[in-house]
Amino acid sequence: MNILLTGGAGYIGSHTAVELLEAGHRVITADNYSNSSPEALERVERITGRHVTAYDIDITNTDRLCDIFAHEEIDAAVHFAGLKAVGESVKDPLRYYRNNLDGTISLLEAMKLYGVKRLIFSSSATVYGTPEKLPFTEDMKLGPCTNPYGWTKLMSERIITDYAASDPEFSAILLRYFNPVGAHPSGLIGEDPKDIPNNLMPYISQVASGRLDKLHVFGNDYPTKDGTGVRDYIHVVDLARGHRAALEYCAEHKGVQAVNLGTGVGYSVLEMVKTFAAVSGIDIPYQIEGRRDGDIAESYGDPSKALELFGWRAGLGPEDMCRDTWNWQKNNPNGYDG
Ligand code: NAD
Ligand code: WQD
Repeated sequence: MNILLTGGAGYIGSHTAVELLEAGHRVITADNYSNSSPEALERVERITGRHVTAYDIDITNTDRLCDIFAHEEIDAAVHFAGLKAVGESVKDPLRYYRNNLDGTISLLEAMKLYGVKRLIFSSSATVYGTPEKLPFTEDMKLGPCTNPYGWTKLMSERIITDYAASDPEFSAILLRYFNPVGAHPSGLIGEDPKDIPNNLMPYISQVASGRLDKLHVFGNDYPTKDGTGVRDYIHVVDLARGHRAALEYCAEHKGVQAVNLGTGVGYSVLEMVKTFAAVSGIDIPYQIEGRRDGDIAESYGDPSKALELFGWRAGLGPEDMCRDTWNWQKNNPNGYDG
């Protein structure tokens, strides 16, 4: 298949590109590099020995997006492009609504014009809001979301669902990721935050490399196993495999399905710190701080629908996640900037 990856140069997009190229698909990316580097795609080519057709465009520009559809025979799209920093979305909500919602609408318009009927969307467990019970299952009520970023995901799910209802031939999977971490085992691609990381794993790895002096643990008074926040971390290579499986399912089925991609198991902040220290051999100094605004105590999903629908389950555990994060960080202390 010829598969368009919006946001294909990003963290999850680049890993999915590897997976799709290795499965024999052709990959076309549309990215404005607002949070990524073209270097990631060169590394994808190095890992796979295959070519990526890369377009430098803002996908909210529907005319330019349509040019891609006019030149490439696109069979399916995977929609990664979006802004994703939760705190930034609270400070600058209009930028988030404009970019993330316009991007989704623009892509659907181009797909409609060119008769492309298969879409995989990067949604997030954040659409569930604060849990009434765990694990999260796809049939649970959604929202209210705790920040504008989360609302853009919930609203994009709605937009895609309404569009699909207008076209009985359309097929979409809304993949609700839990906490993606890790990197490709080659150490050539990984997560490359532009500023001080907001997320736990990149923060830990920058402490390990000496770029940051210690981890701030946001709260140890949650009703969890050790008082620190519990999350369903999922290795990005497992996640990439999930996209491939979802695309294959999409080719055979119509309609919209929301599907969790997680391991189903939650680990605490301190468990991740200990695992990282054990696999890297480096002590991770940390300090307990107050809770971070908007955080929930625990989040983990039931991943059984992905297994039932398209035979996917996560195979990698916390040791793999920490080992591969560290391998990427130590080989690329400044990310793609060398
Ligand atoms: P990322 O920032 O690394 O990748 C997103 C890519 O989209 C970047 O390359 C960026 O340059 C590009 N982009 C953004 N706006 C664009 C636009 N208007 N036009 C063209 N390109 C644009 O993020 P990621 O971690 O790879 O996440 C991919 C998707 O998965 C995002 O939609 C994100 O919201 C979603 N998601 C991520 C996580 C996570 O924790 N990483 C969790 C759940 C969902
Ligand atoms: C994990 C745990 C923190 C940093 C976010 C988004 C979510 C999704 C994934 C896109 C929590 C603790 C963290 C630190 C810490 N993204 N922590 N010190 O908040 O679960 O999810 O990324 O959809 O929408 O909200 O991930 O990695 O930030 O935090 O103690 O410096 O680590 O409190 O318990 P989160 P995270």
